[in-house]
Amino acid sequence: MKDAAPQPVRPVRLAEYTPFPFVVEHVELWFTLAGAETRVRSRIRFAPNPAAEPAREIFLHGKALALQWARIDGADVQPETTPKGLTCPVPSGPFTWEAEVQIDPTTNTSLDGLYTSGGMYCTQCEAEGFRKITYYPDRPDVMAPFRVHIDSDMPVKLSNGNPLGDGTWDDPWPKPAYLFALVAGDLRAFSSDFTTLSGRHVDLNIWVRPGDEPRAEYAMDALIRSMKWDEETYGREYDLDVFNIVAVDDFNMGAMENKGLNIFNSKYVLASPDTATDSDYDLIEGIIAHEYFHNWTGNRITCRDWFQLCLKEGLTVFRDQQFSSDMRGAAVKRITEVMQLRARQFREDQGPLAHPVRPEEYIEINNFYTATVYEKGAEVIHMLKHLVGDDGYSKALDLYFDRHDGDAATIEDWLKVFEDATGRDLTQFSRWYSQAGTPRLSLTERFNDGTLTLDFKQETRPTPGQPTKLPQVIPIAVGLIGPNGDEVLPTTVLEMSEAEQSFEFTGLSARPVASVLRGFSAPVVLDRPLDNATRAFLLAHDTDPFNRWEAGRVLGKEVLTRMITEGAAPAPDLLTGLHRLVADASLEPAYRALMLGLPSEDDLAQTLFDSGHVPDPAAIHAARERLLDAMAAEMEPTLARLYDEMETPAPYSPDAEAAGKRALRSACLALLSRRDGCARAQALFAAADNMTEEMAALATLVRHDQGAEAVQAFYDKWRHDRLVMDKWFMLQVVHARHEIMAETAAALTAHPDFDWKNPNRFRSVLGGMQANPAGFHRADGAAYRLYADWLIKLDPVNPQTTARMSTAFETWARYDADRQAMMREQLERIAALEGLSENTGEMVGRILG
Ligand code: ARG
Ligand code: ZN
Repeated sequence: MKDAAPQPVRPVRLAEYTPFPFVVEHVELWFTLAGAETRVRSRIRFAPNPAAEPAREIFLHGKALALQWARIDGADVQPETTPKGLTCPVPSGPFTWEAEVQIDPTTNTSLDGLYTSGGMYCTQCEAEGFRKITYYPDRPDVMAPFRVHIDSDMPVKLSNGNPLGDGTWDDPWPKPAYLFALVAGDLRAFSSDFTTLSGRHVDLNIWVRPGDEPRAEYAMDALIRSMKWDEETYGREYDLDVFNIVAVDDFNMGAMENKGLNIFNSKYVLASPDTATDSDYDLIEGIIAHEYFHNWTGNRITCRDWFQLCLKEGLTVFRDQQFSSDMRGAAVKRITEVMQLRARQFREDQGPLAHPVRPEEYIEINNFYTATVYEKGAEVIHMLKHLVGDDGYSKALDLYFDRHDGDAATIEDWLKVFEDATGRDLTQFSRWYSQAGTPRLSLTERFNDGTLTLDFKQETRPTPGQPTKLPQVIPIAVGLIGPNGDEVLPTTVLEMSEAEQSFEFTGLSARPVASVLRGFSAPVVLDRPLDNATRAFLLAHDTDPFNRWEAGRVLGKEVLTRMITEGAAPAPDLLTGLHRLVADASLEPAYRALMLGLPSEDDLAQTLFDSGHVPDPAAIHAARERLLDAMAAEMEPTLARLYDEMETPAPYSPDAEAAGKRALRSACLALLSRRDGCARAQALFAAADNMTEEMAALATLVRHDQGAEAVQAFYDKWRHDRLVMDKWFMLQVVHARHEIMAETAAALTAHPDFDWKNPNRFRSVLGGMQANPAGFHRADGAAYRLYADWLIKLDPVNPQTTARMSTAFETWARYDADRQAMMREQLERIAALEGLSENTGEMVGRILG
């Protein structure tokens, strides 16, 4: 097919939604998997859609398909084709469409549609990949049962639904095309089974490459726990006879919830103690749960259109967070969620890519699988639950499943079940879905005659396309701590809905300290002037574990800010406060490890920018280093003791408790190596029997420029393991001295094992560059150029991953004029490329503003 001349691309708009004029009653597909000459034959039964205007012709999406023939009700037709699809006159009643297309999965490097990876065939259809497989109304509100026949000499042939034998699959549950999946390859299963609450027997298989079976054990365990949890917590049972998961090495994202046939990036399935870290195990558990939970929130109830993406993603993230919190402990989970939210979503919300949780227009929907849709989408549900209570939430969810099972639903439908189940009016609350930007909540406090008054103001700054903002409903969880450290008022939820609002607490015998926004009850930036001593008091006494951690975090941020802007010294309040907590054996090790973390360099840059400074990435890095040195000096004996105490016995176990001990131990190691010349890190690297500690030791050595031998030894040991080699690439970039990061990254991209077409490998090096902000923003712009060179190289091969990685430049406006000019120069160089993908074109255009 010839490329059409470039035309201005018209965005798709929420306001322009119209239903499809036809319903699909049934789909049958025959695949002949024959490499570059793969054939797909389809038979689709259409009928007029009673809910739409009648139509005399049909439009079917199709991209890069070679149409062989087409028939309607058995008679040949000659549809009109364009690069986006075909149009064909149709009878006025029901009709059967049949067609055959030829496609070439072997050269499909976009990893979208049907493609090959390491000799196996697999698919990715969300959001709009199915149109690269056959002509079809590729939109989520068109749902149909599918039957699929696979003709291939591959030993394993899988598709959605239940197996009928001989490469034939039947999926009785009507589904949109984006949930279609097919896999064929030389695969082996790690198998188990599950019996649902109502007695349905389900075969469970995780399909991997021969030899990898033992590495699927943990994912299987997580799957079974997820299935049980969803029955117990939401009353949701699985609905087919088999649940298959496939691990694939080349994948643009984490995983995909195709009905009955989840496809995973192998990174989020395969784990063994010697190759996977604690954090890999944690992610595997969370992502397995996420995809499984989609079976109800996404598949049984899907989205009417892609603007409603948060309907399934925000809710499913919220559900996987609840699950992980039940599995691994609420406080530690909440803290890590909030760290993620701030690192990714706040960054997005405060820059040129800010968009509402439910966007109103897009050019390329794949650019909207964002932290805002996913993580802020989950936070909105978190707030909703605060506002209606646990009981209200569970009534609303029951009603949602009851009322909308089998539907392609909207955010309006979602909010309506909460209104109907609880009687609450959610009109103002719905602004969380339509208004972009992170609200800033400022607080001042007064105490008079036994009454504490909290005066709140909220403000959301303009975001692209939204110059003015209206007040939002903000649930503010508050508790009060008396001067002796006792809680005088347990957590209560204040509901703020005005631009300015005050709340009073009366009858207090002495002035308490308020603990505000407990558990991070709303995704806002809290601005509260407090002296170091009061923050240190909260750090020592807050009864809410999240806020206790937060007190240390905010204090750390203020101390670092003064170190950067005024050359101040590390404040003793912070050092002694953290020291006391880290030494407190009554606190979980995982929690203490989090306490030792400092705000990230990127977070500090945003904070400085917000308060009117121009962030200097090297100065931020240097201040953070000085504070870490001061922490190590202050706590050395405690850290040394903990380093020994937190050793976990062999054999390795990935459970949360053992992982928490290793997290604290690694945090101690990182600080101690500032004092011991890396003696402990050298010893640990030599002795480690698990990847968590092997990596912790190696990272420490590289960070202190003592890693050369260890890096080589690690390579020799692991060079044949793709997933471990991804870690090897990434670690060297993340932990490189910022002065030489660009050269380190450049050298690694020239390494023979830098298989840049593999997204995991590409992300290892380029993602590593982003995770080293002082290196990325080096004053001579070397990293910017290298990064842009690689985006330019990847775009024609894999536009989705390129577009996603372009967000490295989204913060350009924070920096000084020279850096701004250099970043814009790279963005403009990309924007000017001939044949640039729509994906990357849209992103770069929005980033430039
Ligand atoms: N629905 C998948 C998930 O959240 C992710 C699909 C992402 N697709 C994309 N084109 N970016 O589990
Ligand atoms: Zn999802």
